[in-house]
Amino acid sequence: MATPRIALITGASSGIGLATVARFHADGWQVLATVRKPQDAARLRAQFPGAQVLEVELTDRAAVARVVGDALAQAGGVDLVVNNAGASIIGAAEELSLDDFRAQLDINLLAAIQVTQLALPYMRARGAGRIVQVSSGFGRIALPMFSAYCAAKFALEGFSEALACEVAPLGIAVSIIEPGTVATQFDRNRREASGYRVDGPYAALYRAMRARLATSHERGPSLPEDVAAVIHTAATAHRPALRYTVGKLGLAASLAARFTPDRLRQYAIGRMTRAD
Ligand SMILES: NC(=O)c1ccc[n+]([C@@H]2O[C@H](COP(=O)([O-])OP(=O)(O)OC[C@H]3O[C@@H](n4cnc5c(N)ncnc54)[C@H](OP(=O)(O)O)[C@@H]3O)[C@@H](O)[C@H]2O)c1
Repeated sequence: MATPRIALITGASSGIGLATVARFHADGWQVLATVRKPQDAARLRAQFPGAQVLEVELTDRAAVARVVGDALAQAGGVDLVVNNAGASIIGAAEELSLDDFRAQLDINLLAAIQVTQLALPYMRARGAGRIVQVSSGFGRIALPMFSAYCAAKFALEGFSEALACEVAPLGIAVSIIEPGTVATQFDRNRREASGYRVDGPYAALYRAMRARLATSHERGPSLPEDVAAVIHTAATAHRPALRYTVGKLGLAASLAARFTPDRLRQYAIGRMTRAD
């Protein structure tokens, strides 16, 4: 029997991460999944026999180095890394504290970079491997009230593009996944800017954006399983693409980023999100 391929998937407690674990586990991969709460770890161990569940807070650099580093060393390598864990915050740039920005960069960018760096030596040694970064339509198009989240996701995309060029000659492929709206707990888990005030100068725009997000959910979001299927394609395609979109909004963001002039795009976004 062939040795199973090994996939490390972060943010496996819910949503896209959980669906991705289910997808790869069902496909016979050896799954290493990260969660941060003991009750999630217990649930996943029961749900996916044979999967190795790692309990780690991904913004704790020392813990990641120890827990993920040890797991990779024990497994003797890894074929696929899916950097999926992420979180968002809503609020005007002026009302977000530097700590708000730091926290966004910590989970959406630095955690993915650290996990990638831990995996690369094993992939280089084998001359093969796949890195899949779960970005967002917000990694291509920036909307008001999302400066911190967009800063992190745009940065993740820049990091991943540069990395893709560096590691392609070593047999390692990097893919970026750009979902639009996905039916998960993500919106409910979203934090609010530390300095947000209901009577503040951006309150009307804030409410307009919240309403717009609610509408985009009503219009039929993608399912986490749809994103997991695209991640599976990126992991198994003979020649994976650098970018994959998921859902209508993911595609729209990608097309708008690639094909609309800045002025037109900023005008359209301004109209779409205006506060009146
Ligand atoms: N849902 C959407 O509409 C959408 C659209 C585009 C892109 N995305 C991207 O998809 C990815 C997954 O999100 P989702 O929609 O599946 O949302 P989700 O259900 O809220 O899942 C987020 C996952 O990230 C984990 N996580 C968050 N902060 C963490 C931290 N500091 N340390 C360790 N783990 C942490 C969460 O763990 P806990 O359960 O412990 O909090 C959870 O497992 C994110 O990168 C997000 O940016 C989502």
